[in-house]
Amino acid sequence: MIRAAIVGGSGYIGGELIRLLSMHPEVEIVAVTSREHAGKKIHKVHPNLRGLDLRFTNDYNFDADVIFLAVPHGTSMKIINEFLGSAKIIDLSADFRLRRELYEEYYGTHEKPELIEKFVYGLPELHREEIRKAELVANPGCNATAVILALYPFRDVTNEAIVDLKVSSSAGGRRENIPSIHPERSNVVRVYKPFKHRHEAEVIQETGIKAMFTIHSVDLVRGLLATSYFRFSGSERDILRKLLIYKDEPFIRLVTDKGGLQRYPDPKYVIGSNFVDIGFAYDSENERAIVFSALDNLIKGGAGQAVQNMNIMFGLDETLGLDQYPLYPV
Ligand SMILES: NC(=O)c1ccc[n+]([C@@H]2O[C@H](COP(=O)([O-])OP(=O)(O)OC[C@H]3O[C@@H](n4cnc5c(N)ncnc54)[C@H](OP(=O)(O)O)[C@@H]3O)[C@@H](O)[C@H]2O)c1
Repeated sequence: MIRAAIVGGSGYIGGELIRLLSMHPEVEIVAVTSREHAGKKIHKVHPNLRGLDLRFTNDYNFDADVIFLAVPHGTSMKIINEFLGSAKIIDLSADFRLRRELYEEYYGTHEKPELIEKFVYGLPELHREEIRKAELVANPGCNATAVILALYPFRDVTNEAIVDLKVSSSAGGRRENIPSIHPERSNVVRVYKPFKHRHEAEVIQETGIKAMFTIHSVDLVRGLLATSYFRFSGSERDILRKLLIYKDEPFIRLVTDKGGLQRYPDPKYVIGSNFVDIGFAYDSENERAIVFSALDNLIKGGAGQAVQNMNIMFGLDETLGLDQYPLYPV
């Protein structure tokens, strides 16, 4: 059994990691940390996990084979020395996703630049072989995962894209703040950061495409939809052919139906799963393409992708513990 520890277990990503790992046939959870909730049973913070016999701890002195860091960005680089060398590490924050100059352009000074190059960017569809050999993996951002997977097949035909994202409230984490309380967050279509959203940097790094993001907070609890617009000359068939690089990917589903309930990706149909749904539209007259990608930000956008990375790092079947279809209806 793989002994897994979760640092930052009281957050939304931590909760999903506990849920997924507790159902994983090859994993035993040895520690779940929280400073605020140390000593409490897990279900006091994650009521959906009632029945799980686990308590939060604030003791980092655990014996694990893999450690998931599910803490805010800026925190992983402060605490990572406690864990280096003792286990494989999968960091879900942004601290080790970017090469230094991009990190510093989008986030500011990096406190542990010497560690950046030891991390592999944990997007299995692009870096599976490096992940297999890695001791340290930086799990991608949720928005970045959706946009990179949408644009990567087109990196040789465009170097610019405009990306509109509709994002759920859980993407902001569990911290309490006024804009996130129910009367303020409910019913919004709120523009959030029209320029220079930090996840743009991951898209630039991984695809070479200068993507300009505008994120809208919408009235969903989980899930996101990325709509990526770019110039493309060719045909619908050419677009489909490019997207077929994903045909053997276990967690990418191409949505190309001409009729029926789902003609384009919609977060509604991926919630609770590790799938990314990808579809497209093409205006041949004006040579404009749109690629749509939908995922559950807490699963393929976070905890599920981290478990997928763990499976690869430990030589397991990549889909182990993740082979559920989405909930429906949600
Ligand atoms: N939410 C998403 O959709 C999503 C998707 C992909 C990636 N991520 C990334 O994943 C990470 C966790 O996100 P989240 O949404 O779960 O955030 P969250 O709900 O705010 O949870 C953060 C967790 O970190 C712990 N923590 C905070 N400061 C800490 C410190 N100095 N030392 C140790 N633990 C600390 C908190 O626990 P205590 O305060 O109880 O110790 C809490 O358990 C973030 O870096 C986020 O950017 C989030």
